[in-house]
Amino acid sequence: MSFQPPDVLLLGPGPSPISASVQRALAMPLLGHLDPAFLPLLDRVQEGLRRLFGTRNELTLPIAGTGTAGMEAVVANLVDRGDRVVIGVHGVFGQRFAEAARRAGGDVVEVRAPFGEALDPAAVAAAIAAGPTRVVGVVHAETSTGVLTPLSPIAAAARAAGALFVIDCVTSLGGLPIACDELGVDAAFSGTQKCLSVPPGLSPVTFSARALDKARTRTTPVPFYFDTRLLTGYFGPDRAYHYTAPISMLYALAAALDEIEAEGQVARARRHVEVAAALRRGLGPLGLEALVPVAAATPMLTTIRYPAGVDDRAFRSHLRQVHRIEVGGGLGPLAGKVFRVGLMGHGARLENVARALAAFGDALGVAGVPADIAAALAALRAG
Ligand SMILES: Cc1ncc(COP(=O)(O)O)c(C=O)c1O
Repeated sequence: MSFQPPDVLLLGPGPSPISASVQRALAMPLLGHLDPAFLPLLDRVQEGLRRLFGTRNELTLPIAGTGTAGMEAVVANLVDRGDRVVIGVHGVFGQRFAEAARRAGGDVVEVRAPFGEALDPAAVAAAIAAGPTRVVGVVHAETSTGVLTPLSPIAAAARAAGALFVIDCVTSLGGLPIACDELGVDAAFSGTQKCLSVPPGLSPVTFSARALDKARTRTTPVPFYFDTRLLTGYFGPDRAYHYTAPISMLYALAAALDEIEAEGQVARARRHVEVAAALRRGLGPLGLEALVPVAAATPMLTTIRYPAGVDDRAFRSHLRQVHRIEVGGGLGPLAGKVFRVGLMGHGARLENVARALAAFGDALGVAGVPADIAAALAALRAG
């Protein structure tokens, strides 16, 4: 092929780097989506996703489409016209979640916190109790800020009100343990390009029996593609056609799930925490500071403030052009003020932190802000 992508280390908010095994899986010969040799692999993928989501939910599947498709699937099935829906909004992905629920006809109540701060579970609980709430939604790992949301108090408040509890775990799945059944999560959606380290294009989702009841008894019809009854046709025991499943992506997801299984979810979560801690240790000597205190932060994504005088575009373009490293810029009110470093899945490795710290130091030097790279690398090793 005439196009040859450059070798870029993906340390942004996604996509994350993929392993050699996932890459090989993408190149395997194609099978039909109803081929008897393929269907056992689909079973394995669904079972692997159940383990990752911490659920026994029958309808657990990788929707064709990115994380936003998973969000649409959940919202389309669970938000009926006029439903009171409480959504936590403390970043761009909470805003998008609220907008999707509004477009589905929900009467959306946003519980806000400033970008960069955690949601107050008591404020969410108060909003839930203030009316006949049908659905509660929060973003577990808010990728626009790097803030983690405490799920259990919000799950308890939703359950007490008889509302369905829905989480966006696009960035957290595969990087943090998620226990949907234990928490009482009724639906969750994710994406493959973050801590699962598969290219973008699939959105793992899961629906509880309560969620499916709601989808069955709602008054307005569900968009065809995302209808859980039709999805159950293919992803349930019948294996009947609903859409042509993206086979190569499913091979890749199966390979990634095998790797996660071999590493173990607990060890994998620990690796994400350790690597994020190493990054944080190296920031001080460079004169950099994380936006979010570690106790409230997502381990897989760290948002870093620019020192005065550093231009976001120039800094990131130096990283990309000279060091072949991609990081993310700030979003919303944080645009130009921060950059975002993802250490996700296959990319969450100390050698990547070392390479990133050296590159950050160089880019700061170019911007006229002196940074001690040797001290940053020593701090990284000191953990
Ligand atoms: C928390 C969160 N939710 C939803 C999405 C949307 O996912 P996608 O871009 O795969 O559609 C993203 C993507 O970055 C995300 O980080």
